[in-house]
Amino acid sequence: MQIGIDQLAFYTPKTYLDLVDLAHARGEEPDKYRIGIGQSEQAVIPVTQDAVTLAANAAVRVVDDTNRDKIAMVLFGTESGIDNSKSAAIYLKRLLKLPDNIRAVEIKQACYGATAGVQFAHDYVRLHPDKQVLVIGADIARYGLKTPGEVTQGGGAVALTISAEPKLLNLDDATAFRSEDIMDFWRPLYRTEALVDGRFSENVYVDFFKAVWQDYQQQTKLTIGDFTAFAFHLPFTKMGLKGLRAILPEASEDQQKQLMTNFEASRQYNRQVGNLYTGSLYLSLRSLFDNADLKPRQRIGLFSYGSGAEGEFFSGTISDAFDVQASRRWFTDFFRSRQRLTMTQYERLFSQQLPDHDVLLDLSHDDARFVLTGIKHDQRQYLDRGE
Ligand code: CAA
Repeated sequence: MQIGIDQLAFYTPKTYLDLVDLAHARGEEPDKYRIGIGQSEQAVIPVTQDAVTLAANAAVRVVDDTNRDKIAMVLFGTESGIDNSKSAAIYLKRLLKLPDNIRAVEIKQACYGATAGVQFAHDYVRLHPDKQVLVIGADIARYGLKTPGEVTQGGGAVALTISAEPKLLNLDDATAFRSEDIMDFWRPLYRTEALVDGRFSENVYVDFFKAVWQDYQQQTKLTIGDFTAFAFHLPFTKMGLKGLRAILPEASEDQQKQLMTNFEASRQYNRQVGNLYTGSLYLSLRSLFDNADLKPRQRIGLFSYGSGAEGEFFSGTISDAFDVQASRRWFTDFFRSRQRLTMTQYERLFSQQLPDHDVLLDLSHDDARFVLTGIKHDQRQYLDRGE
């Protein structure tokens, strides 16, 4: 029995910043951002969207009447939680009208949370093949205006269903993981922006990748020649390139070309959206699916990294039922309909934060189906415009 990713959808708001505008405003060379960092644009998230609404706007595309009753768990990976106690998964479960006889929990380990969800879901469906698990990665990546991390901001959500006989990717059982207490990137409870030791975090990322790649190869006896493509956690797309370059010499010359071509396909969407923390690896996988020329049974390697730090290398093979036409159309329409912000608009949106008292938000600039309407009696208020 094959178990893996059956559906994979993405959502982010249409407002974005062109990074050439950011480069000019910050006195940097545009090529530093476009080539040195590997980013062209970044999503800007209005105050009327939070981790819950981002997730709901993505998940509504993978949950409908055909699978609603099969979903046994909602595993919500996020490091942009909205409550220290109650999980974002419970709010999401209500917005999606999922039945009550399910588990709904939030998972936190920086950008690794959604991968923990995927692996827990894999094991669960192995025991309960008639069930599905909804896995979410939803975040808003914030470093602050005029910081070195500003060019690597962004946000959005991915929603995956994990099932038996999946339509996209059959996950292999083998997986290699590693965790170590490292202060490369963190966000204390009192802060809305992350703290980061930038260059150190890049080095730890590559070291973790090399370590879990070695471990995976020892376990499976597979080598780079068994892989058609790799998808990486992409805080910014140059980071994945640094990971790939660390192992590329292991491949033949022809295969190096193929891996580089597929890497370009895997970073196309992320380059235009920016970092989405927990969802980044899965947006990259979606980008690979939609923009590479993949065939059933080909093997894809996935590297997940969450600062602090946890890394995992795992793999899967393309399903026989693989079809990406609808997703390609969705992304084409989405990128065409985006709204480019001026620097002033971006800085205003970025600086707008939810107050810690009751408030009614202006929804006129947010056309999403699920929106945050405000706070009442210290409770976030959500609206489903599809009702
Ligand atoms: N043309 C082309 N390239 C140029 C250039 C130009 N005109 N000018 C500079 N560059 C290159 C530099 O040579 C450098 O390349 P290398 O990394 O290959 O050496 C690159 O552009 C970046 O330049 P700097 O190192 O000078 O950039 P910086 O000091 O401003 O900061 C950063 C870069 C450290 C990535 C910073 O943006 C940051 O801290 N980002 C957030 C941290 C992060 O994402 N870390 C990743 C690992 S942690 C993780 O993965 C978890 C997560 O999601 C956060």
